[in-house]
Amino acid sequence: MNISALQKERANYQPKLPKSLKGAVKLVEGDKTESVADPKEIEKLFPNTYGMPLITFEQGDNGAQSVPVNVGVILSGGQAPGGHNVISGIFDGIKKIHSESKLYGFLGGPGGLVDHKYMELTAEIIDEYRNTGGFDIIGSGRTKLEEEAQFDKGLEIANDLNLNALVIIGGDDSNTNACVLAEYYAQKNAGVQVIGCPKTIDGDLKNEMIETSFGFDTATKVYSELIGNIQRDANSAKKYWHFIKLMGRSASHIGLECSLKTQPNITLISEEVAAKQQTLSEIVEYMAGAVSQRADNGENFGVALIPEGLIEFIPEMKILIAELNDLLAEGTESEKEFKMLRKSHRLEWVASHLTEDSAKVFKSLPSGIATQLTLDRDPHGNVQVSLIETEKLLGEMVKEKLSQLKKEGKFSGKFSTQYHFFGYEGRCAAPSNFDADYCYSLGYTASVLIAEGKTGYMASVRNLTAPAEEWVAGGVPVTMMMNMEKRHGHMKPVIQKALVELEGAPYKYFVSKRGEWALGTHYIYPGPIQYFGPTEVCDQPTETLKLEKA
Ligand code: FBP
Repeated sequence: MNISALQKERANYQPKLPKSLKGAVKLVEGDKTESVADPKEIEKLFPNTYGMPLITFEQGDNGAQSVPVNVGVILSGGQAPGGHNVISGIFDGIKKIHSESKLYGFLGGPGGLVDHKYMELTAEIIDEYRNTGGFDIIGSGRTKLEEEAQFDKGLEIANDLNLNALVIIGGDDSNTNACVLAEYYAQKNAGVQVIGCPKTIDGDLKNEMIETSFGFDTATKVYSELIGNIQRDANSAKKYWHFIKLMGRSASHIGLECSLKTQPNITLISEEVAAKQQTLSEIVEYMAGAVSQRADNGENFGVALIPEGLIEFIPEMKILIAELNDLLAEGTESEKEFKMLRKSHRLEWVASHLTEDSAKVFKSLPSGIATQLTLDRDPHGNVQVSLIETEKLLGEMVKEKLSQLKKEGKFSGKFSTQYHFFGYEGRCAAPSNFDADYCYSLGYTASVLIAEGKTGYMASVRNLTAPAEEWVAGGVPVTMMMNMEKRHGHMKPVIQKALVELEGAPYKYFVSKRGEWALGTHYIYPGPIQYFGPTEVCDQPTETLKLEKA
C-alpha cells in the first residue's frame, strides 16, 4: 500500500484511553434503566434486554482468568472519520483479554453478515488502518437488519465462526436494529451478544449517556476549514456571496457547529424553521435582508450556511413534497398523464393538480428546481430531497427578491453568488486526535462489555470535554434510548433522533451572536486539522460539546 508521509507518521500515533481502561477493569452496575418514553410498550417488545443497569468501568485489580473471545464487526451506513480506530480498539481489547481471541469483519455493511461475506482481521491488516479515515478496511453498506430470516442467516455464520459477539457500528437506525438483534439472540439463547457503537457525522445520535457520535468532530473541522478559506476569499475579493449547503440528512448540528467555529453571516437552522413554521418566502426575506443591510455598509459579499435537510423542515415544502409524491407515484394514472405531456407543459400541469397553497409555493420556485422536484425520485418513487440543490434554490430566490427591492429603491448593492456543497469532503478525513482517541476508546469499551457477557448495550464514553485520561467508559442499554415512533405507517421502537435543541446552550449562544455576525465581518479561520502540536490546537472537542458541558 502506498501511503503519504502524514499517514506514515500518523500510523505511530497511540490513541489515548481513559485511565479506567488502561489496566484491569472493574465493572460497576448502576440503577436499572427505563426507556425515554413508552416504557410499557418497549418492555413488552424487549423482555430480555429491557431495564438493564447502566454500566461504568473503573480501574480494577488484576488476576481474573480469561478465555479467548471471537468477535464479528460491522460498519453500517455513511462513512464517519474514526471507524478504523473503533475496529483497532476492539482488536486490541480482545487481544488483551486473550491473545488467541479473533476479530472478523463482515464485508460491505450488515449485508455481509446475511450473505456470509467476511474476512479475518489480523494484526497486520489492523496496523495498516490505525488512525486512518474511511471505512475501506471492510466497507460499509445500508442494508437494514430487520427481518428474522436475516437474523437467522447471521446466526448461521456466527455459529460457523464460533463468534461470541457482534459489534455494530452505526447511527440511530442501525443501533435500533442492533438491539432488536440482541433481543432476538437472547430470546433464542443463541449465545451471541450484540453491542452497538455510536457513529454518524450528522451528530444526531446523542443523549445524556452518549455525548456525541464519532466522526462529527472531524467532519465539522474539515468543513469549517473550507468555510474559513471561503470566508477569507470572500473578504479578499469582496464580490461574492457564497451559499454553502452542509451535509446532515435531517438535523442541523453540522451547520450549527460550523457556524460556531467560523462565524459566517447567515446560518439557517432547520429546527428553528420548523418551530417557527417559517415559509420559504420568509426565509428568503431574512436572507435578502442580511444581504441588503451588508450592502448598505458597502459589503457586497458574505457567506451563508444552509443545512442539507432544510427543505423537509419548511412546513409548506413538506406538504408540497407529499402532494408531489402522491401525484407522481409510479404507475398511477396521473403519472402516466404527466409523462405523456410535452416538457414545456409539465410544470403548469403539475401546478393545476396541486392544492391551492401548494400550487402557490410550487409556482414560486425557480423553474429548474420545480423541474427537479418532478423528476428525481428514489426507488420508492419519492422526491429525492437530498438531491434538491437548496443552496441554488435560495440563491436564486434571494436574487429575485433583491431585484424586486431594487425596483422599489430599497436595494442599491450587488449580489453575485457562488454555490458549494460540503459533505463527502469530510466523511473520510483522517480522524482528529479527538475522534482517534474517542473511537479507539469506544472500540476498547465494546471489547470489555463483550468480555463481561453483556448484550443489548451501546458502548459509551463520557466526560469528553476533559482530557482523555478522565473520560468515563461503560455501557448504556440501547432500550433506554428508545421510544415508539410511526415508521412507514406502523408504530416501531426506535432510538430517539437528537435534533438541535432550541433550548440548548449551543443554539442559544448562536442566536445571541448571529445579528452581529450578519452585519459585521467577524469571520474565524480555523485552518486545517492539526495532528501534532500544542494541545489547545490539536485536542479541542467541538464547540457544541464545550457549550453543552459548560
Ligand atoms: P449516516 O446517518 O448513515 O451516518 O449517514 C449520514 C450521511 O452522511 C448524511 O449526512 C447524508 O445525508 C447521507 O449520509 C448521504 O448518504 P449516501 O452516503 O448514501 O450518499
